[in-house]
Formats: sequence, structure tokens, C-alpha cells
Amino acid sequence: MSLETKNARRKLITWYEENKRALPWRRSRDPYRIWISEVMLQQTTVTAVIPYYEKFLTRFPTVKSLATASVGEVIEMWAGLGYYSRARNLHKAAQVLAQKGFFNNAAELLELPGFGPYTSRAVASLAFGEPVGVLDGNVIRVLTRYYGLKLKWWEKKEKQPLQDLSDALANTEKSSEVNQGLMELGATICTPQRPLCLMCPWNKECVAFNKGITQLLPLSKPKQQFQMWNWTLNPLIKNDQIFMQPNTATPFLKNMMFPAGKAEITFKKPTAYDIKHGVTKYDIFIKIEKASLKSMGPGEWVPLSQVKKINPTSLMSKILKFIEK
Ligand code: ADE
Repeated sequence: MSLETKNARRKLITWYEENKRALPWRRSRDPYRIWISEVMLQQTTVTAVIPYYEKFLTRFPTVKSLATASVGEVIEMWAGLGYYSRARNLHKAAQVLAQKGFFNNAAELLELPGFGPYTSRAVASLAFGEPVGVLDGNVIRVLTRYYGLKLKWWEKKEKQPLQDLSDALANTEKSSEVNQGLMELGATICTPQRPLCLMCPWNKECVAFNKGITQLLPLSKPKQQFQMWNWTLNPLIKNDQIFMQPNTATPFLKNMMFPAGKAEITFKKPTAYDIKHGVTKYDIFIKIEKASLKSMGPGEWVPLSQVKKINPTSLMSKILKFIEK
């Protein structure tokens, strides 16, 4: 272990302990609570997550309560956070953990649905003190700046040196404080625009600060290509009930319940459509057409008043609004 690493770690831990925000998931070392918070924090900011976190934990206070709930109920409590496959994976992983007990190390956690390297390492270190480093957007920004690294971090082989640096810093009994310190530094000081370098515990050694190149690091990931999709839906409605089935027609909103339909990728913006919607890299053009009983596959009849419970996505709200016009 180099002296530089030890000094950097010591400064980081001291700074974290003096400056950490009082966040709900920092009140305990319960791996379940830490897990839920880390999954929610992958989609949005701390401020936005807190009310969802409190509500979710009130309804599902333990792994067991989450495991025994219906998947529909879990999705309902996730409503508004987006990326609904994450809610489904939480539910699946809870069933394993409720039966086998909570895994206490990153290697075992990594085998569970929805646990990638980041979540596995965050839970193992924050809850159990395993000496493994985390790497997410915040940590990548802090480390590339501190060490002055012009790495294509979105490529696996150029990301590995950053994981190694994170692991070296976290290789201590206080891995939880190191990891949370890196996250906190990235969230509050080492921000993407206008970092507050004068308040940073690492400014004396920070390569980017000393060279005046913080705004050049980390390198920007090339933008994803957008895809356009045409999606024709055939909502079948009878006696205030709508026929809904798991969506297998598109790569987005997969397995969410929607009216029957067909979808195709398109390279030309369609001229006639009823609803336009965006999900991650997809621009979606929806056409609502009359249904016939022939178009029914496996699915279920759902009272119109209950649709929001099984499909809380904003696209489904737009579809309902269109139908009710
Ligand atoms: N971002 C990701 N994980 C976090 C955590 N545990 N605390 C604050 N911000 C975070």
C-alpha cells in the first residue's frame, strides 16, 4: 500500500465523517435498507429518492415482507421511479434472500437478479464492511480528476484501472466510510459543473485541480444513438374493463402490462400518430387502433379504475387519457 493512498484515504474519511449528510439510509447498517436505497439512487437524486424510500420501507420493512408481496404491489410502490424491471428484480432477489438469509459479500450478491458490480459492492461494504471499492458515475468523476486520468471509462478495459484504484482506497476496515466518502465528494463537492475545489479535502494533491483541467475530466462518453419505434396498440374495452397483456413487442417497457399491440423499429418519423413518448434512448410513436376479439392473446381483464395499479408508467396514463377522450 503506498503512502499516497493511505494519506488520501485518511483525508477522505476525516472529511466524510465531518461533512456527511444525515440521510435516512445512513441511520442503520441493515443490508436490506442499504440495498433498497442503492437501487433507488441509481435512477435519481438523493432529494427525489427520500420520499419514495420512506414510503417503500414503511410498506416493506423487511426482506420477508418484500418477498411475500405480489409483484404488482411492488411495482405499485415503485410507481414514478421508472425502470420497472428494477422493481421486478428487487422482488425476485428478495425471494432468494428471504429464504437463504442476506448474503454478506459482493461475490455472492453479484449472482442475484438486479445486482451488478456497483450494487453488490455497495451493499457488501456499507452493510458488512467488506473491503471492496464501488464505482459509479460520481466515483468515476472523483477518481479520474484526482489522478488526472484521461480514460475511456465506458470501455471495460479502461474502466478496470479505476475499479482497481477504488479497491485500493477501500482496502481497509473503514471501506464503508471510504465508499460513502467518494460518493459524497462526487455529489456535493466534485460536481460535474463548477466543482467546489477550494472546499475539497483532496485539492492539494488533485491532478486535475493543479493542472486546471477539472472540466476536461472525466472524458465524455459518446452519445447513444436514439431509436424510433412505431407501436400500434389495439385496446379492447368492455364494461369499463380493459384487456391487458405483458408487453413482449418492444425492447422498452418489457413485460409491463399493456393493451395488445404490434411494434417495429422505424428510420423515418411517422406522419400520423396519436401519442409520442420517450423512454431512455427510444422515441416512441403510438397509434391507437380499434381492437377485435381476434387480437386477444394471454392476458387479463382489468377495471379501468385499477389500470394505474398494475401499470403506473406515464405512457399508460397517456394511453388512458387518449382512450377516454
Ligand atoms: N449515491 C449512491 N449511493 C449513495 C449513498 N449511499 N448516499 C448518497 N448518495 C449516493
